[in-house]
Amino acid sequence: MTAATVQAPPIRVAVIIGSTRQGRFGPTVARWFTRRAAERDDVVLDVVDTAEAVMPHTFGTAADDAGFAAATAKLAAADAFVVVTPEYNHSYPGTLKNLIDQHGAEWHAKPVAFVSYGGLSGGLRAVEHLRPVFAELHAVTIRDTVSLHQPWSLFDDSGELVDGQRAIAAAKTLLDQLTWWGAALRDARAARPYGA
Ligand SMILES: Cc1cc2nc3c(=O)[nH]c(=O)nc-3n(C[C@H](O)[C@H](O)[C@H](O)COP(=O)(O)O)c2cc1C
Repeated sequence: MTAATVQAPPIRVAVIIGSTRQGRFGPTVARWFTRRAAERDDVVLDVVDTAEAVMPHTFGTAADDAGFAAATAKLAAADAFVVVTPEYNHSYPGTLKNLIDQHGAEWHAKPVAFVSYGGLSGGLRAVEHLRPVFAELHAVTIRDTVSLHQPWSLFDDSGELVDGQRAIAAAKTLLDQLTWWGAALRDARAARPYGA
């Protein structure tokens, strides 16, 4: 008789849309990525949109915005994160930094992956600036990224990439690494609370 295989519960992934600009492209990229992730049975998804979370700009003031509270709850519940970020002036948007800075334990001992977009660099300079920020927050960043260079004309009307094979393969690699770390760190946090 073979032992029954115990299916691990799916990894809860919060996909964070980092831009808030009027006419932003971020939601197009995020929708494409969440469709790829939703094809898997080892993840469940939440979306945290920084545009829907009004954050206090003065630290220590109460965040009484319902969108901010909802974002906080989703970050706390997540086992793993995917940050969808553009590149602004060789870095990432200030609104995203505000969301990151106004949370702490929500990031601890969890993995963070990046889907970036922008001009010639495909947002990679934004990603490299985010890595040390998340290290400071006791998070683990995932090596492989999805990076879209000048993506504005790459999507069709249904929101799919016209020539998406490389990006789809990159998303699979990213999610394979993210779910490995997500499961490993979820088990570790359950066995022993993380003492930061
Ligand atoms: C203020 C600002 C600064 C930008 N700086 C860069 C940059 O340094 N490098 C780059 O490749 N693209 C840069 N871009 C292009 C953005 O990455 C691109 O417009 C992207 O779509 C912005 O994301 P969003 O549409 O979600 O706001 C910049 C755009 C803005 C609005």
